[in-house]
Amino acid sequence: MNAITVDNLVKEFDRKRAVDRVSFEIQEGELLVLVGPSGCGKTTTLRLLGGLEPVSAGEIRFGERVVNDIRPKDRNVAMVFQDYAIFPHLTVFENIAYGLRSRRTPRQVVRDRVPEAAKTFRIEHLLARKPRQLSGGERQRVALSRAMVRDASLYLYDEPLSNLDAQLRYQAREDILTLHREKGRPTIYVTHDQSEAMALGDRIAVMNAGRIQQVGSGADLYDRPVNVFVAYFIGTPSINLFELQVEVDGDRVLATGSGLRLELHPSMAGEARRYAGRKIKLGVRPEHLHVPRMAPFEVTDDTTIHGIVNLVEPTSAGSTVYLALSGDGAGSEPQDFVATFKVRLPARYLDQEIPLGVDMSKVHLFDAETGVSLLHGGETAAVPR
Ligand SMILES: Nc1ncnc2c1ncn2[C@@H]1O[C@H](COP(=O)(O)OP(=O)(O)O)[C@@H](O)[C@H]1O
Ligand SMILES: [Mg+2]
Repeated sequence: MNAITVDNLVKEFDRKRAVDRVSFEIQEGELLVLVGPSGCGKTTTLRLLGGLEPVSAGEIRFGERVVNDIRPKDRNVAMVFQDYAIFPHLTVFENIAYGLRSRRTPRQVVRDRVPEAAKTFRIEHLLARKPRQLSGGERQRVALSRAMVRDASLYLYDEPLSNLDAQLRYQAREDILTLHREKGRPTIYVTHDQSEAMALGDRIAVMNAGRIQQVGSGADLYDRPVNVFVAYFIGTPSINLFELQVEVDGDRVLATGSGLRLELHPSMAGEARRYAGRKIKLGVRPEHLHVPRMAPFEVTDDTTIHGIVNLVEPTSAGSTVYLALSGDGAGSEPQDFVATFKVRLPARYLDQEIPLGVDMSKVHLFDAETGVSLLHGGETAAVPR
């Protein structure tokens, strides 16, 4: 049995759907990351789960019990909000104790558990202080301690680390994971940051415009995105997308246009053949473009694209290179794209045209109109029906 089941959940505000037929399950002990751009419906989904907002349609079940009409207090959900929501007039101790006290926890249990939770987040020396005497990071740790001190049926985190600087964020992320493993309770962690999602999630649900686009492991989302949205949202820098026409030439299937002429890999040619004469979007991740002599495959004319180097950014391990397609049709603005290399590209290449080998075995193909992948079916519906 699933610990938590969300079944075709809908939330409308003034007839506008903020959450549109969202379905997912969480197992006991699992942490699900919900990731998507600002305004896609993440907070609303959590508020529905916590009972802070009535649902418009659909069902939420804790185990077998439908909780749609159960009051927040009786759902036993612990929530950590982005803005902390800690009480300014209460000490750190009383803030952390708040959820326990409101559930009539015996005094001795409160006295034992609060310092224990505070210790986990390294704020045990601050228990007597008021929130205004704390830094932002410390306040956030009060909010985390307050949630973790309880034995809840479900833990909900709504972008709890977005106000912390990078160092504290890594630390707090580790703390959350450690505690999650100790408690072993179902948890949903919301973030708009795909790299945070990749770092945290057993399973990641990608959301856009109120809908779940795909649920899977980080590797699933990166290697087998079901649509253009997921492909573009996961991975940094983002995947390059070229709108091209499919051409069949005997045994070979090519994608052409914008001055490009690329032969599709045999593993994809079958699917692409059905698109003969039609438009597709060809997605190439920046790390799958290679300087020809360093490519892990044989680069030929049919797997090469040419670009003019606009900018070279050194990274810790190599470089990120911003280019514009050359050979693009006259008159139209040449399309920009990005490549990442494990080596530093010398500055003398600036403004020069360079050839790049495309690892055609790793590209992604999408229907140009619907954005749906030609290659990967999804666990869930890919685009609005
Ligand atoms: N109380 C509300 N009344 C009207 N519209 C709302 C309300 N809460 C959220 N929305 C709208 O619902 C959509 C989703 O919002 P939200 O769940 O906060 O997104 P996210 O957390 O992913 O940024 C947005 O378009 C937002 O403006
Ligand atoms: Mg939000």
